[in-house]
Amino acid sequence: MSAPTIQTSSSLALLGGSPIGEVTYSKFPQFSERAIERVGDVLREGKAVGLGRFHSPEIVEAEETISRYHGGREVLACSSGHAALHGALAGLEICSGDEVITTPYTWGASTSCILHQNAIPIFVDVERDTGLMDPELIEAAITPRTKAILTVHIFGQPANLPRLREIADKHGLALIEDGSQAHGATINGVRVGDVGDAAGFSCMGGKVLPTTEAGYLVTPNKDVFWKAAMIGQHMGRAPDEGFPDELRPWSDSLVYTYRVTPLNAVLLTEQFGNIEGWIAERRRHADLFRAKLAESKYLSMPDYAEGVKPVFHLLTMNYDAEAAGVSRDTFAAAMKAEGMLAFGYVPSPIPDWPRLHWQEKAGPRVSWTAALEQSGIDYRGMELPNCRWRIGNTIETRFDFVDPQEQMIDRMAETILKVEANIDALRGHERASGGASATKS
Ligand SMILES: Cc1ncc(COP(=O)(O)O)c(C=O)c1O
Repeated sequence: MSAPTIQTSSSLALLGGSPIGEVTYSKFPQFSERAIERVGDVLREGKAVGLGRFHSPEIVEAEETISRYHGGREVLACSSGHAALHGALAGLEICSGDEVITTPYTWGASTSCILHQNAIPIFVDVERDTGLMDPELIEAAITPRTKAILTVHIFGQPANLPRLREIADKHGLALIEDGSQAHGATINGVRVGDVGDAAGFSCMGGKVLPTTEAGYLVTPNKDVFWKAAMIGQHMGRAPDEGFPDELRPWSDSLVYTYRVTPLNAVLLTEQFGNIEGWIAERRRHADLFRAKLAESKYLSMPDYAEGVKPVFHLLTMNYDAEAAGVSRDTFAAAMKAEGMLAFGYVPSPIPDWPRLHWQEKAGPRVSWTAALEQSGIDYRGMELPNCRWRIGNTIETRFDFVDPQEQMIDRMAETILKVEANIDALRGHERASGGASATKS
């Protein structure tokens, strides 16, 4: 592949120059003709109705397929990643007033699954380089009410699962993994999802393993599996094979509709046939990009320890605003004007979000207010320095390179290097416009 022709002489598109050109992706998500045909068969044959293994061989097939990927663990295919995570909490019987130590730097569903059980999220800071929850801050946050640690493999980066497992075991806590952005990531050769007492994965159409909207729960524990299953489907009328007799008196239709549909079950099975190739292609592109980013003065990808193998779905870069002399938002706006998606994925630490501030008595009423009020927790004004640093100093971009698209890697590098070559003009622009330009994802 030839080196990018860096258009250092041309002025920034943000300042009226010609843009480098759009960073495009081949079609994503992709579904094979066979997958489409099989979905059609389910519809044609009238098999689209039915939630659970009892009704749907497609669901059995999907769960067996995913279970093989996760070393024979129990798998519950769900309607979404949130449903899978909520099922994980319910399956572990974590509820009212129980505390769950977790990260403030993630998508809201990693936290709402705790809130929806009326349990209490306890936020600890993240590592500055990766945005992963810092395991070394966990022990100080443990109280007699702590029941679990919920870690998120954010941006496809596997958390330090050996260390998290060690802390959880030492204190008798459950370990829950949110692998929604990290299907197939490994640490010391072990896949995310294969260490926790339960793990939830999202398979919405933008994820590493995309369907339309779906997810799945992985657990080594049959009891957790069935207790999660029974909050997501009415197990009483048509119980799935193996449903334990002792749970039957507690099974009714006081449930969420959390099971996968047969249509998405077919897609789960078929997509898992492609996952290794897609992950390899994403990694290959990430390696190419990392090599090109070495030329950048202000942006870098996180460094990973030996044994850590991320996957790439959203790509995160750390930005040195001080050295650049330009805010992250202005730099990202300049990248965006050239044609590359550039944004800050997490808008603010989750404990800053107003719907957690029960003291304010403002906004629409929410179901978790009473539990938070009873616990007396006050999330307002948490320090979380690394989380806050990342929110102002990282740039994320989409990275759905599942087909050879090396020219787009060149274009991304070219975009960044062009903005850097014009940094003086960008500084002047920021000064003249009185502050940072807004970034929109
Ligand atoms: C880290 C994380 N957790 C949970 C979810 C929720 O998944 P879903 O949208 O399938 O409910 C997402 C989805 O974006 C996510 O990124």
